Amino acid sequence: MEKLRSQNWFGKTGKDGFIYRAWMKNQGIPDDMFDGRPVIGICNTWSELTPCNAHFRDLAESVKKGVYEAGGYPVEFPVMSLGETLIKPTAMLYRNLASMDVEESIRANPIDGVVLLCGCDKTTPSLIMGACSVDIPTLVISGGPMLKGHWRGKDIGTSDVWRFAEAFKLGEINEKQLVEAEGCMARTQGHCAVMGTASTMATMVEALGLSLPNNAAIPAADVRRKVISQLSGRRIVEMVKEDLTLSKILTREAFENAIMINAAIGGSTNFVIHLLAIAGRIGIELNIEDFDKFSHNIPLIANIQPSGVHFMEDLYYAGGLPAVIKELKSVLHNDALTVNGRSIGANSEDAEVFSRDIVGTMEEPFKENSGIAVVRGNLAPNGAVIKPSAATPALMIHRGKAVVFETIEDYHARIDDPNLEVDENSVLVLKNVGPKGYPGMAEVGNMGIPKKLLEKGVHDLVRISDGRMSGTGFGTVVLHVSPEAAAGGNLALVQNGDIISLNVPERTLHLEVSDEELAERRKNWQAIDLNISRGYVNLYINHVEQAHLGADMDFLKGKSGSVVTRDSH
Ligand code: FES
Ligand code: MG
Repeated sequence: MEKLRSQNWFGKTGKDGFIYRAWMKNQGIPDDMFDGRPVIGICNTWSELTPCNAHFRDLAESVKKGVYEAGGYPVEFPVMSLGETLIKPTAMLYRNLASMDVEESIRANPIDGVVLLCGCDKTTPSLIMGACSVDIPTLVISGGPMLKGHWRGKDIGTSDVWRFAEAFKLGEINEKQLVEAEGCMARTQGHCAVMGTASTMATMVEALGLSLPNNAAIPAADVRRKVISQLSGRRIVEMVKEDLTLSKILTREAFENAIMINAAIGGSTNFVIHLLAIAGRIGIELNIEDFDKFSHNIPLIANIQPSGVHFMEDLYYAGGLPAVIKELKSVLHNDALTVNGRSIGANSEDAEVFSRDIVGTMEEPFKENSGIAVVRGNLAPNGAVIKPSAATPALMIHRGKAVVFETIEDYHARIDDPNLEVDENSVLVLKNVGPKGYPGMAEVGNMGIPKKLLEKGVHDLVRISDGRMSGTGFGTVVLHVSPEAAAGGNLALVQNGDIISLNVPERTLHLEVSDEELAERRKNWQAIDLNISRGYVNLYINHVEQAHLGADMDFLKGKSGSVVTRDSH
């Protein structure tokens, strides 16, 4: 084994070595921990403000056991943690900031390999993005999903939040019952129990080959989550010795595998943005069309909400993600390398399916149409996305009059107004919820249906915005319209009553207004003024790229490697 990078700190003699080691010893560290053995960073997003990751100190202890067992020296460090449910205006605004924290923390410190502890939605992409820009041996452990909730005889999870919201609007459940359901839904540690963005990200991690097999679905409350953490601790030490860096695993084939597997599990639309951003960091060519290209012929194989009916823990009991991966054998790049040194194909070779109600086959899937469809047209010249498996089949080809909301405040103020001109054929359009417009591209794209339509039994409408949708959400929702309204996209020019036609089979999204009329309207258009002139948010608005590129900051693309030449003193 060549001299490790940590020896540029701990291996020094004289004054330099003294400074780098002496203060570490105040934690009770024996001399031999600095003898050239792999130093493993454990990058921890533990936070009481990120409830999905609140059990991570336990997991870190398991990782440490494994690192010691394999002869390494573990050092746990905190990074910015992004809790999906509390952070305003949206955790997505801070994904890129957290990635900068991770990148600089890894590079600046005496770390030879790193374990990323990820859970809640944005904590996964931000950590991987940051690590990619350094590119040392890296292994990911997800925190695991919650066990499913039980409320009044019914299994519940995050997708029920949207159902509860409608029932509450209709007066079918009251405030007291809602509060009761809160405690019943999030009843164990872990992230959302359905195939929301967190589970989608955990699946992405395993599909990319960045975790040990079965990482995606082991519930947080299951002790096997600790076991996989300990085994991961052992393995990262070996990875350092093998110099198995991120870029050796994150090949173009790995990304294509991730797209196919995401389709098979009915993963979140947020997957598109995060995977594009990760590819941009590691330097793999990937574009938004690739998501359509590699997923259009993949059916829904995992029967998990919101596209299906079950929960993540059920997937684990039914054979876990390796069972799904095995079903995709005929289409995947089975040779793609993973962190355990084996290929993704070899890792799923022995997988078995214990319930065909949860893991289907390519021939007998749960839905024919899965994955992400990318639609284009004058309303979204750079593309927009829709998730067919979570949409209403009858609305996939639809032509209707736009009901336009200029901002999220405008939407809230008028959506339940009895005088709002809206019917079941209307197309709801929400502007200014994109990367620059919100700012941070909030998860508001699955706008709630107007109360008066809910009362008529209408539960889905075509909805179009430059925002995102929670991975737990569903409906015929066109998202990530690019360019966004705040950047002057044609979305900004839509007016009430304009006809919009969506044709998902043909991948088109068209605003039936002439180019001349749009040019005329553009003369009066003004970008939304959010009155932000300083700080990170100002930096973000000025540098964030559009959704079809992954919404990373322009200056964060690519990597700077792991070398730091100057000492601190
Ligand atoms: Fe954290 Fe859903 S809120 S994963
Ligand atoms: Mg979310």
